[in-house]
Amino acid sequence: GKSLVIAIDGPSGSGKSSVAREVARRLGLAYQDTGAMYRALTLVCLESQLDLQNQAAVEALAKRFFFEQWFDPGVGMVSAGIDVEHALDVTEEIRLPRVSEAVSAVATNLGARTELIRRQRAAIESVRGRMVVEGRDITTVVAPQAEVRLLLTASEEARLARRGAQLASSGETQSAADVARQVLARDAKDSTVVEFQRAADGVVTIDSSDLDFEQTVAAVIRLVKENV
Ligand code: C5P
Repeated sequence: GKSLVIAIDGPSGSGKSSVAREVARRLGLAYQDTGAMYRALTLVCLESQLDLQNQAAVEALAKRFFFEQWFDPGVGMVSAGIDVEHALDVTEEIRLPRVSEAVSAVATNLGARTELIRRQRAAIESVRGRMVVEGRDITTVVAPQAEVRLLLTASEEARLARRGAQLASSGETQSAADVARQVLARDAKDSTVVEFQRAADGVVTIDSSDLDFEQTVAAVIRLVKENV
C-alpha cells in the first residue's frame, strides 16, 4: 500500500500509547512507541552506571546500544541492551519509576536525540511508511510530512487519573501525590526540548478528557478516513 504515517504526539497520561496501538491494529499498520526508545536508552545508561549528565557518554551509548521493538496483539514488546549480545526483554523495566524519573535527562541530550530520531525515521522507512508513530515530537520533527498529524491531549486531572490507574494495574504502589509530582515534573522538563502541549500548524487536536478509550479510537480513525 501507499505511505500512511499517522503521527500522534501528546503528554503522558493522554492515553496516546494504548490509542495508537489500537488504531494500528485496526488499520493493519505497524506501530512505533518512540517513548520506549528513550526509556530503553535510559535503562541501559542506568544499568551501565553511566552518569546521565555526561552528555558525550550518553550520546556515544545512544549510537551503539541495541534496541528492538515489536508489536504483539495489544502489547508493545521491547528488547534492549548495551549491544546485541546483552539484549534482554525490557518491556516491563522501562516503565519503572526509576526510569521515568531519569528519562528527561536523556531526552534533553541533543546528541542522543539526533541519533534516536534517525533510528525512528529508519523504522518508518523499513515499513514504507505504513505505521502509527507516537511520541512528543513526531508531528513536528520525526515525521512532519506524515499523512495524518494529531495531538492527543487531556486535562491534567484526567491524565493524572489515567497514569495512576496504569501504575496501580502494573503493581506499583506509589501514592497519588507521588504520581502527580512525577508526571508534572517530567512534563515540565520535557517541554524544555519539545513543544507537545500545543498543536503545530496543520496538526489536529483531539481532547480525550471526556472520551472513553473506544470513543478516542473512533475519533482518530474518523480523522484518518477524512484525510486519506
Ligand atoms: O511516552 P513516554 O511517557 O513513555 O515517554 C517517555 C519520555 O521519553 C518522555 O517523558 C520524554 O522525556 C521522552 N520522549 C521524547 N520524545 C519522544 C518520545 C518520548 O523526548 N518523541
